[in-house]
Amino acid sequence: MSTAVLTERDGAVAILTLNRPDKLNALNAELFSALDEALVLLSKDATVACAILTGAGDKAFAAGADIAAMLEMSVEEARAFSETGHRVCSRIEHAPFPVIGAVNGFALGGGCEIALACDFLYASDRAKLGQPEVNLGVMPGFGGTQRLVRRVGIGRARELCYTGDAITASEALRIGLVNAVVPHTELLPKVREVAGKIAQKGRLAVAQCKRVLYTGADVPLDVANALETQSFSVLFGSRDRAEGMKAFLEKRPAIFTGT
Ligand code: COA
Repeated sequence: MSTAVLTERDGAVAILTLNRPDKLNALNAELFSALDEALVLLSKDATVACAILTGAGDKAFAAGADIAAMLEMSVEEARAFSETGHRVCSRIEHAPFPVIGAVNGFALGGGCEIALACDFLYASDRAKLGQPEVNLGVMPGFGGTQRLVRRVGIGRARELCYTGDAITASEALRIGLVNAVVPHTELLPKVREVAGKIAQKGRLAVAQCKRVLYTGADVPLDVANALETQSFSVLFGSRDRAEGMKAFLEKRPAIFTGT
């Protein structure tokens, strides 16, 4: 069994750790396969309400696709590698629970792209983020060009991709790439706290929010609004909806069951 990705549980919160610290968690086929497998398992597990994705060690979330592994790649192999990265990023986006990225250090190249597939990011004050692929004569291949535009806008995305510059956590905060910057040692406790808060909500409601926020972002507004109406109404068939509203009226905390 691969140890390239570690999975830990804290109640309804799952913590996934990219685990190649000696190579700054550089993304190779084994790591992608382990991450894919972990996401498939968690996505089938109705007891998971939120996940955290982070990197092992003190230095990196992930310092990019594995450059040594890419050195001898043919055009066909590069296509397959890119498709693998896209599949895993899409798996994060389609997971039926939010995935919060805890960016604990370098998130460069493919590392930044995996972070961008997360619902939102908190960063250590030591983090550095960027798309340095042009320094190697290549470009982002796991969705970075597209997700960066959607997160920070076309101008910033162009600048990051064309210059290859790595930006500090505070600059990433300023441009909206990360939601918050936290002192390094407080990052995981803080992200666990946020994940724990989300995990206490109606799970199906959070899942529908995620679905509509993602799907709605890339379709015309009237289509997106129709998706929202559909998800909103579907939730009225859930126990959690009845419980949430009853609990409010009875002035007591809701007891959600995710059903
Ligand atoms: N692919 C493969 N190995 C990588 C890697 C990557 N993307 N990033 C880091 N590593 C490896 C290094 O080769 C080194 O391995 P070694 O100890 O066997 O020599 C180890 O991880 C530690 O990295 P090192 O460069 O010594 O750490 P540093 O603190 O001096 O520098 C970085 C950190 C992130 C600035 C530097 O590692 C770097 O520039 N990495 C590549 C970033 C990149 O271009 N990513 C996009 C890839 S498309």
